[in-house]
Amino acid sequence: MKIKTQELNENIIEAVDNVKDIVKADKWALKYHIMPEVGWLNDPNGLCYFKGEYHVFYQYCPLDANGGLKFWAHYKSKNLLKWENLGIALYPDSEFDKDGVYSGSALVEGEELYLFYTGNVKEEGNHDYVLTGRHQNVICVKSIDGINFGEKTVVLTNKDFPKNFTLHVRDPKVWKEANDYYMVLGGRGKDNKGYILLYKSKDMMVWEIQSIPAGGVDALGYMWECPDFFTLEKRDVLIISPQGISAKGHLYNNIYQSGYMIGNFDKDKNNFNYDKFIELDRGFDFYAPQTFLDNKGRRIMIAWMGLTDVTDYINPTIENHWQHALTIPRVLFIKNEKLIQMPCVETEELRKNHIAYKMRINKEKKFRELNGDVFELKLNIDQLVGDFQLIMRNDCKLTFSSHKKIFELSLGQSGYGRNNRQVQLDKLKSLWIFSDTSSIEIFINSGEEVFTTRFYQCGENEGVKIICNGIVSIDKWDII
Ligand code: FRU
Repeated sequence: MKIKTQELNENIIEAVDNVKDIVKADKWALKYHIMPEVGWLNDPNGLCYFKGEYHVFYQYCPLDANGGLKFWAHYKSKNLLKWENLGIALYPDSEFDKDGVYSGSALVEGEELYLFYTGNVKEEGNHDYVLTGRHQNVICVKSIDGINFGEKTVVLTNKDFPKNFTLHVRDPKVWKEANDYYMVLGGRGKDNKGYILLYKSKDMMVWEIQSIPAGGVDALGYMWECPDFFTLEKRDVLIISPQGISAKGHLYNNIYQSGYMIGNFDKDKNNFNYDKFIELDRGFDFYAPQTFLDNKGRRIMIAWMGLTDVTDYINPTIENHWQHALTIPRVLFIKNEKLIQMPCVETEELRKNHIAYKMRINKEKKFRELNGDVFELKLNIDQLVGDFQLIMRNDCKLTFSSHKKIFELSLGQSGYGRNNRQVQLDKLKSLWIFSDTSSIEIFINSGEEVFTTRFYQCGENEGVKIICNGIVSIDKWDII
């Protein structure tokens, strides 16, 4: 069954060897985020905690920093922060996945780890690859040690999907409840609307469709990618990455969105009742998040800190043979019918050189000493009268207009085409910023809103400037 693994592997070893030192030496190489050793990265896959270690796989194209044939690359870690590169876990080496080992998830079952992914196949010929010429197979692979992966078993093919679906049905997320296994897949209906499909199994091999719990919403795009469905604080949460939503004011401004619905899954009717779709992140670079439950009972989310098919902003790292990264791990909670994202507490282990201030600012204050690139900055804002602005790393501006109740992230030249993004915000109470050489993640009001962006600093870093009328307390740490 296996085709071309050896040839692929030889090409990859050569490709990696040729450029890995250039990638390492790149001034934009990230210090504490997962990035590809060389080449292209997209979705996080197979996130899990297995036999005492965290595992992260991701969509990887080592041969081209602009993307191409997809593999699963593999990293593991004891603390979610220091990652060991285990190379490639899954190759597109069978007739069922020859055009890409696409996204999927992991299921830990006692001493065994199961990976489920989509094997992408494209037929030669004149096809639209939506209604003809494509196969998307759900494939299962088992591992005992979490490092070596066994036979590939196809458990679902397009023939098993409902007739009113196009050939785009993919990205299995699998979990266990009582003695049953469940899987959600994202799909594109023939009506050009996005859906999720729910399957059930007794043995992980034979899967029966249960229902189409959500989808078919005019305003929510033509395809739902990378679904995730879980219970958090007794509520049911569906995360999806829809394609085809139109921008509406400051909402849905990226090419593709990622967001969630909080609701209630009715087990008898197999239907998911929810209120609304809310974007998970308000920045420029966030897509295809996936969650998992760790041994401490935390629901942890990691996303792709990037987006595909972007035309109006770019990543200059391509010149240095790599592109994209993953976000820091974020722990999810629910508050006031919204998902709250908090940086995982392990990030505290990265802290060095603490600086703290507390002061009243009447107009503006410059903190020249806060001029690093790789740092954590926590800010509490009290008794704010009027607007607030923080400028860092030369041209990253965070502005809160108390009158318009809008929070804005705006970037200058360092955004490489990224201009501004906004969110509606009632009150600004705190900012928690994770800055790396070429990325910034901003958690507002203890994770109520998050902005994630790549950032390629141009110009001189003169520290942090704050313009406001209020009491500000600041904690800053260098990272690593
Ligand atoms: C999302 C996605 C998935 C697919 C994968 C391929 O970014 O398009 O739907 O499985 O990427 O790399």
